[in-house]
Amino acid sequence: MTPPPPTAAPAALRTPPSAPVRPADRRTLRRAARRVLLRNWTGAATVPSHGLYPHQWSWDSAFIAIGLRHLSPLRAQRELETLLGAQWGDGRIPHIVFNPAVPLDAYFPSPDFWRSSTAGAAAGAPRGLETSGIVQPPVHALAALLVHRTDPALSHGRGFLARVYPRLVAWHRYLTEQRDLGGGLAAIVHPWEPGMDNSPCWDRPLARVEPAPPGAFRRADLDHGAAADRPTDLDYGRYVRLATDYRDRGYRDGVGTPSGKTTPGTAFAVEDPGVNALLIASEHALAEIATALGADPAPHEHRARALTTALLERLWDPAAGQFLCRDLVAGELLPDRSAAGLLPLLVPGLPRTVVRALLDTVRGPHFGLGTTVPLLPSYDLRGPAFDRYRYWRGPAWFNVNWLMERALRRCGETTDADALRTAALDAAAASDFAEYVDPYTAEGRGTRDFSWTAALTLDLLADPGRDRDNHHDTVSDGEGQR
Ligand code: SER
Repeated sequence: MTPPPPTAAPAALRTPPSAPVRPADRRTLRRAARRVLLRNWTGAATVPSHGLYPHQWSWDSAFIAIGLRHLSPLRAQRELETLLGAQWGDGRIPHIVFNPAVPLDAYFPSPDFWRSSTAGAAAGAPRGLETSGIVQPPVHALAALLVHRTDPALSHGRGFLARVYPRLVAWHRYLTEQRDLGGGLAAIVHPWEPGMDNSPCWDRPLARVEPAPPGAFRRADLDHGAAADRPTDLDYGRYVRLATDYRDRGYRDGVGTPSGKTTPGTAFAVEDPGVNALLIASEHALAEIATALGADPAPHEHRARALTTALLERLWDPAAGQFLCRDLVAGELLPDRSAAGLLPLLVPGLPRTVVRALLDTVRGPHFGLGTTVPLLPSYDLRGPAFDRYRYWRGPAWFNVNWLMERALRRCGETTDADALRTAALDAAAASDFAEYVDPYTAEGRGTRDFSWTAALTLDLLADPGRDRDNHHDTVSDGEGQR
């Protein structure tokens, strides 16, 4: 049962929100974050966490590269290059790249479940390595641009942008063509794809899915995390069913009908505002990358505009004051409010009324940022399914808060961005870089020494106006090698 929200102002809010993290504390925090990233580096990439997530994850790696660039721009480039090395022929970047040295039972679903090199062969899955077959949000072009900007000389010298650009273009083409299931946006076909696995937004569409029987699989996540913090067994049964069906279809997307229309061809197909906001932000980054390479940015700018129009037409709900998810199977907007519906604040060129309404929702009773809670919760504080402890059903996540801090800064909301930055740094320090935290008290939940929490701490510690574009410490080549 979910405990009621505290009525008194939580301790984390009693600190003046704009109080800066003191310089001595900053040094300690930077050193601690650095230690986490060195420990979690495996030689070519970074694990999110050695226990719970012992392989390479797609959107984790993008956020990790954004922080790692402050320690070693070279390592940050490698992080992204390793991930892109596992790209499929159809352009998809798989959500997990498996490390063959890790025992099969360390993580479920393991490579022998996904069978990418055989089941994904027709979609162009690589032969020499094993990956999952689903995707995660496209933060990669944004990460590549930020990594490049940190050390342009190194980037030019290694031909970093020239090598990653065609792969990023193919990735976006996959999302905007294969994953356009009719609405002009990229659709997700599994709750793990938006990265917000058990968000209450998926409860309705998931209810259509017959769960795999509990005896058919063994969860490994509960060996490393408290059951109260993780998705339920029933949800897991449904995740497994959807992934099994997708694999057994050869990871094929959409089904053509005689009228020439594409239908999802799956029980679960959703347009998510967070995924599409990140796609648009990354498409703008691709335009900048194209310019840096002397290529034409216009196709990227054009696609970003088309996606923005579709986002507004399909997912904006003026009554809710935020973007919502669209269930493509039922053909309707889902009423649940998740933080994903606020991430379009990152998107340039939204109508002013939409930006104002989004900012009101961020601070209003449903999300309470800076008014009720110090950090943006993953789900509506007043929603019937709100659970302050359980994975994506309420806790505050550092990547979402990093994105919101960036969005607020972009919108000129500097005071709120500064307050959020301080709250996130305080929470990271007090929780030993927790995977997620209680949005009211900032108490740590999930696993600790979590890579993107440490990485984004390093980025937030950098000066927003200057260092986030060019500052870095150094890491010698063999340091932290495992
Ligand atoms: N986040 C999911 C997990 O817990 C899938 O990547 O394994």
